[in-house]
Amino acid sequence: MTRTVAVLLAGGIGVRVGLGIPKQLIKIAGKAIVEHTLEVMNASSVVDEIIIVMNAGAIDQLDSLKDPARFPKLTRIIPGGDTRNDSTMAALNALGDDPDTKVLFHDAVRPFINDRILEDCVDALDDYDAVDTAIPSADTIIQVDSASHITGIPNRSTLRRGQTPQAFRLGTIRKAYELASHDKTFHATDDCGVVFTYLPDTPIFVVDGTAENMKVTEPIDVHIADKLFQLQAASLTADDTLPDLAGKVVVVFGGSYGIGESIVELAEQAGATVHQFSRSSTQTDVRSRADVKKALKHAHEQSGRIDAVVMSAGVLRMGPLTATKVKHIESSIETNFLAPVIVSRAAHKYLAQTGGQMLLFTSSSHTRGRANYGVYSASKAAVVNLTQALSEEWAADGVRINCINPQRTRTPMRTNAFGEEPEGTLLDPQNVAAVSLQVLDSGLTGQIVNVRVEQVAAQQSI
Ligand code: CTP
Repeated sequence: MTRTVAVLLAGGIGVRVGLGIPKQLIKIAGKAIVEHTLEVMNASSVVDEIIIVMNAGAIDQLDSLKDPARFPKLTRIIPGGDTRNDSTMAALNALGDDPDTKVLFHDAVRPFINDRILEDCVDALDDYDAVDTAIPSADTIIQVDSASHITGIPNRSTLRRGQTPQAFRLGTIRKAYELASHDKTFHATDDCGVVFTYLPDTPIFVVDGTAENMKVTEPIDVHIADKLFQLQAASLTADDTLPDLAGKVVVVFGGSYGIGESIVELAEQAGATVHQFSRSSTQTDVRSRADVKKALKHAHEQSGRIDAVVMSAGVLRMGPLTATKVKHIESSIETNFLAPVIVSRAAHKYLAQTGGQMLLFTSSSHTRGRANYGVYSASKAAVVNLTQALSEEWAADGVRINCINPQRTRTPMRTNAFGEEPEGTLLDPQNVAAVSLQVLDSGLTGQIVNVRVEQVAAQQSI
């Protein structure tokens, strides 16, 4: 069987992003960009081995990725060169002798690479010795001279925007670089360009890329990439298939009514052992560190492990700030924000033992404070911020943390605050619970997962 080796090119600096660290190390959704890319490669059934070519000055920053349990396919992390082509050559020198080996060169800063593209590239190498990945160009591409005058407008339908992976039979790409090494004027920004120039008789097949497979290049790309990760998470929709949670132990704080209650029911149906704590059922006050610690200890003693901790308790009291009693303000901040902090802090040690997950809840008012419940919406914004921060703090421990953003859900808390609202405008807590379980069953971390009622037009919602 022909081996397929993926080379992650991470030898650059990322001057254009301008953040002062190599851009492949920028954290998005709790993980370095190169780590996201590595995860996809490692999970792909068509990739046998992975080599990372890393910027020599920062190579030790990837030491934590050398974890055979997590990334069994990653065999080496080697220093890159001054240019992207030098980095490719460093990889070529590290690859074995078999000219039939399939090699995929991929920019480490394209974390949205997917299985389909990888499979298409590897399959195409059965018929071709060189393969590129590209997408059509939405913009018209114009050619200009040094005076900024247009010198040509190539027909857009024949143009494509090149991405990576670029895939080759090892013998072919080696030969191309060997020929290029004798050419003093050699310059290229990618690897297909080297084959195109020095082995002009070798056809290069093009597989379809995707718009998401963008290269994080300019400052705005960091924001776009962040949103794309959120969208990936948000694309989870409630369906009838429950994940298999057999053998898992789930602790739910605030599980006596509303969304928490639905999570308890569904998690049990999914096969999990569920421990539920609330003020009404177990006299557990989520604002009390002692109560929370006691509850977790109890669950751990009973079941021997904790795989997920769900914190769904919350309070909402309407009214202008100046007319709200200070004790109610304090209690709102304590339940809606301090309690998630206390529960997360206490849960970490149990979740670190199982590689488990913390699940918090926010509200759509977190993106914009709303009159008459400013303290609530501010606390919910704080929960989002906490989720993002802890996903980074806990990544090295293998503990994930996510936050569900359930829009307008029919819960007793909401009905108390807003009264009866029109049918069809509110989510059923069961839908929110179903998405919550999907998130618990996923590898996501640092994500804010939206759950929406599709048919409701955009309107102010909490
Ligand atoms: N690359 C590399 N070795 C280099 C230069 C680039 O392996 N000497 C890698 C980058 O790490 C990146 C990919 O090639 O994953 C695409 O390159 P580009 O976006 O141009 O990266 P940088 O050179 O890092 O960016 P900039 O030009 O903004 O400095």
